[in-house]
Amino acid sequence: MIVASIVGARPQFIKCAAVSKEIREHFHEILIHTGQHYDYEMSKSFFNELKISQPDYNLGIGSGLQCWQIGMMMIKLEEIILDKKPDLIIVYGDANSTAAASIVAAKSNIPLAHIEAGLREFKKNIPEEINKLITDILSDFYFCPTETAVSNLKNMGIEKNVFKVGDVTLDIIYNNLKRIEENKSVLKKYNLEEKDYYFMTCHRASNTNNIEHLKQILSVLKDIDGQIIFPLHPRTSKAIKQNGLEKILNIGNLIVTSPTGYFETQTLIKHAKMVLTDSGGVIKEAYFYKTPTIILDMQTEWVETVSEGWSYIAGPNRERILNRIRNFKIPDFHSNCLGDGKASEKIVKILIKEL
Ligand code: UD1
Ligand code: UDP
Repeated sequence: MIVASIVGARPQFIKCAAVSKEIREHFHEILIHTGQHYDYEMSKSFFNELKISQPDYNLGIGSGLQCWQIGMMMIKLEEIILDKKPDLIIVYGDANSTAAASIVAAKSNIPLAHIEAGLREFKKNIPEEINKLITDILSDFYFCPTETAVSNLKNMGIEKNVFKVGDVTLDIIYNNLKRIEENKSVLKKYNLEEKDYYFMTCHRASNTNNIEHLKQILSVLKDIDGQIIFPLHPRTSKAIKQNGLEKILNIGNLIVTSPTGYFETQTLIKHAKMVLTDSGGVIKEAYFYKTPTIILDMQTEWVETVSEGWSYIAGPNRERILNRIRNFKIPDFHSNCLGDGKASEKIVKILIKEL
């Protein structure tokens, strides 16, 4: 049987690294890269570090307006899908590549499996929320990371072929935990001390397209007592340059880098004193490592991390962020509810049975 896996953005390469390995033991996989992300540090570096097979196709779509990007992806994907006629299409998460591939699967009458199904932020002005809704309406198999995701689907009337398997990105962490924990050379490289620095990322459209939000977030940096490492997403570096905000980053205790590699990032999150982020992936990884997290966004789909007290929604609000950095109460309880490292194995077992 032929399975076509369609990816395009950084977090999708990471999720695919876990699942593709299992898929290839039982199916013939065609890997399609839409080209949504294309810089070495946003794409190839993950294929290299995580030993993901080279894509069979790279559509080279690149950046652009949302509908243009989705439309261009659909046009090129449809040609390949009609030619190769896979028995199943697998999509990940909630990027534009996910929505494009889901529409093509449905229009071509090919069964669709959504990995990371059922997550919601409940605001239709969030680009990813639209992608999540489209994909969950069109899917045939729903692989949910959490109980909340299962109940979100139930609330939409979706109960058939819904499987709670846990989060696939944790599979890679479990398999590499020793390397991630013990690779102290990463801390040495940046001159950081364990549990004595902050790790920050920021890239969501609501923070980078809104100069006031971006200013509020960046203005926090000079008031943080301690070292901060801030790998910049290309979207964020562009927003900083376009709005002339480079000066805010001229601070002695701040290390600004280009996007960091997978293993380096994991070690930096694991050993940080605290994480500041609007990245869904980073929120759940920090939760796994029990690193307290300030969310630079108004909501998260990883609500369990908030209800257990490991992360706090501050939004793009300088006072709320600083206040929580100074008064973060580390919880005693951690349910490790996001996964057991076996999500990919479970997904493939279910697919073998169902197909
Ligand atoms: C996308 C996803 C988001 C995910 C993020 C992961 C959508 C709607 N959003 O957001 O859910 O969290 O990926 O990182 O799909 N750029 C480069 N080089 C690259 C890639 C992007 O310079 O390799 C710049 C371009 O100026 C581009 C901008 O970043 O316009 C945004 O890229 P895009 O893929 O549209 O959205 P992300 O913000 O990366
Ligand atoms: N990540 C990385 N280098 C970075 C920033 C993030 O390797 O400089 C990893 C991070 O650890 C997580 C994933 O990329 O595994 C999250 O991707 P991103 O923040 O781009 O997207 P999101 O998860 O918000 O969709």
